[in-house]
Amino acid sequence: MCELTGIFSRIDAYYDIEEDDDSRKANDDFDQAAGHGEIIRVGDSSILKKTQEAEAHFYEIISEYSGLENFTPKYEGSSIVDGEVYIQMEDLTANYQNPAMIDIKMGTRTWVTDMGVEKIDRRKIVDQKTTTGELGYRVLGYRRYNRCTESYEKVDKNECRNIVSSEVKEHLSQYYFDGVRLRKDAIQETLDQIEPIYSWFKENTDIEFVSSSLFILYEGNDHVGQYGVTVKMIDFPYVLPLQESPGRSRDEGYLQGLENLREALQSLLNEAS
Ligand SMILES: Nc1ncnc2c1ncn2[C@@H]1O[C@H](COP(=O)(O)OP(=O)(O)O)[C@@H](O)[C@H]1O
Ligand SMILES: [Mg+2]
Repeated sequence: MCELTGIFSRIDAYYDIEEDDDSRKANDDFDQAAGHGEIIRVGDSSILKKTQEAEAHFYEIISEYSGLENFTPKYEGSSIVDGEVYIQMEDLTANYQNPAMIDIKMGTRTWVTDMGVEKIDRRKIVDQKTTTGELGYRVLGYRRYNRCTESYEKVDKNECRNIVSSEVKEHLSQYYFDGVRLRKDAIQETLDQIEPIYSWFKENTDIEFVSSSLFILYEGNDHVGQYGVTVKMIDFPYVLPLQESPGRSRDEGYLQGLENLREALQSLLNEAS
């Protein structure tokens, strides 16, 4: 028997688990600096993302931050077409047959000071309403492959916006459910891959990430035999120098998010199957 749950909707689209917070509706220039999630596949193993110069710039200089490239999609260059900036990068889904994927926004805030008062206020409200403020992470959207019904199911951005701290673990559990069982192997592998990212952030005294995500994938199709998990940092609208934040020497918001995410995943592992 296939398990059915009400919060899921079936989907066909491949890349469609993206956020959309209220701030994106504003039409000031800086709003669009957060990116619009226009993702186009290029060839078999790359994607093109329409973005802002800041993100392209970050990818250009990413090798200056020792070790960071281990945790980001491989950057293949940027281009400007009709005044729009595009970055080309590794398609993290390329090696999967039926990828399950979740986009988790990291950090305890999603605003930066030069956004403008109105937008900052809007984002602060969303940060408080969602799990961002309390946990340092929030689930923006996820989709899983149900190998019982042989279809994709997703929980979209509107649903995810209502997730409160007491519910987020259940959503993580739903994400790692493949229609037959809770994929504890994938949870363990996720934890293993979070560890070096956590160590990197412990060492990092250079930069702070605002409104950036962790993107986690696992193979949802049991018949494939390959259970690789991918944990990568994606989406870099604001990467700020830490030395411009007096009294702060680490990206505490991101670290807190990683700690809480780790704790939630660990407790799923510890629960009965
Ligand atoms: N390198 C990648 N490989 C595969 N999918 C990706 C990659 N980067 C982003 N995506 C997908 O596209 C979505 C939007 O990407 P993101 O960089 O967060 O754009 P935006 O700036 O619009 O938030 C992500 O949630 C993810 O599903
Ligand atoms: Mg994003």
